[in-house]
Amino acid sequence: MKDTLWLDDAKSALVIIDQTLLPNEEVFRSLTTTDQIAYAIKRLAVRGAPAIGVAAACGAYLAAKNALDSRDFYGQVREELAILAASRPTARNLFWALERMDAVLKAHPVPADAVAAMKAEAESIIAEDIESCTAIGEYGAPFFRDSMHVLTHCNAGRLAAVRYGTALAPIYRAAEKGVKLKVYADETRPLLQGARLTAYELCSAGIDCTLLCDNMAAGLMAKGEIDAVIVGSDRVAANGDAANKTGTLSVAVAAKHFGIPFYVAVPFSTIDPSCATGHDITIEQRSPREVTSMWYAKPMAPENVKVYNPAFDVTPAELITAMITDKGVFKPPFRF
Ligand code: MRU
Repeated sequence: MKDTLWLDDAKSALVIIDQTLLPNEEVFRSLTTTDQIAYAIKRLAVRGAPAIGVAAACGAYLAAKNALDSRDFYGQVREELAILAASRPTARNLFWALERMDAVLKAHPVPADAVAAMKAEAESIIAEDIESCTAIGEYGAPFFRDSMHVLTHCNAGRLAAVRYGTALAPIYRAAEKGVKLKVYADETRPLLQGARLTAYELCSAGIDCTLLCDNMAAGLMAKGEIDAVIVGSDRVAANGDAANKTGTLSVAVAAKHFGIPFYVAVPFSTIDPSCATGHDITIEQRSPREVTSMWYAKPMAPENVKVYNPAFDVTPAELITAMITDKGVFKPPFRF
């Protein structure tokens, strides 16, 4: 199976699987300019916090490589880093990766040295993503025992990272150890990451997966059908509040009501010590079209209706049973 994204240095390109076309078509795109990479992040052709960070790191390196002959190398690269940073506001990994690339740029006063060091840094970010997701899988797998029913929301699987994903990594690792799990995937309105991506990747991996509409999850919990919930996060505040795909909060509230453990799986690169609580996390607002017309042959709402479409919501730390990270498992009160 191919990775979700990688750097093809010989072609000076970031290669991504275009997630807007899944599950119907597997199309890989080679992106060579900052504008193409920023646009791919914005339109969710590459998405999921860790994958966005990796895409931005590769974009920063390619921007530097392409600027090597520029008269104002440092000015041009900084402008392109700003374009990447403006692509989406919520995922911490985007800014974490760009801050690392910017620090390397600043540390090298000779442009050719800066380009070489930025290539090495982008490659480390890719390798660290694979390592951290593997570690999350190892730490998280023991939470899942044979015949458990597990609910997930959005896509925090291999499509959200380079290779393994975060929330689905413990499920993949448990499956590798022979543990048989039944996974329920919320379809995840409005952009259907659960239906299009999670169901697709779990079915391709041979893991028992059942798709449901988001508003069916509480009913399933009430029937005793769910033993655990696991999700990823785009940004975790210092107190453990976790921003994730819109609808995650409802799942967490329902899980608390029914006494079901609610796990959040993240690499440390998603934790943002500069946000004291979830109130400090910027939540992206997206186009009304995603709610009213994007998936339908005809619009499903009156043309002039006002639309509320935040991409994420924040689950307060008190609803989270444990945070499964690449550095181990944290229980509340969270101190990272
Ligand atoms: O808008 P998306 O598809 O980028 O949102 C992704 C999510 O909310 C994921 O759950 C989150 O990034 C964690 S991915 C490992």
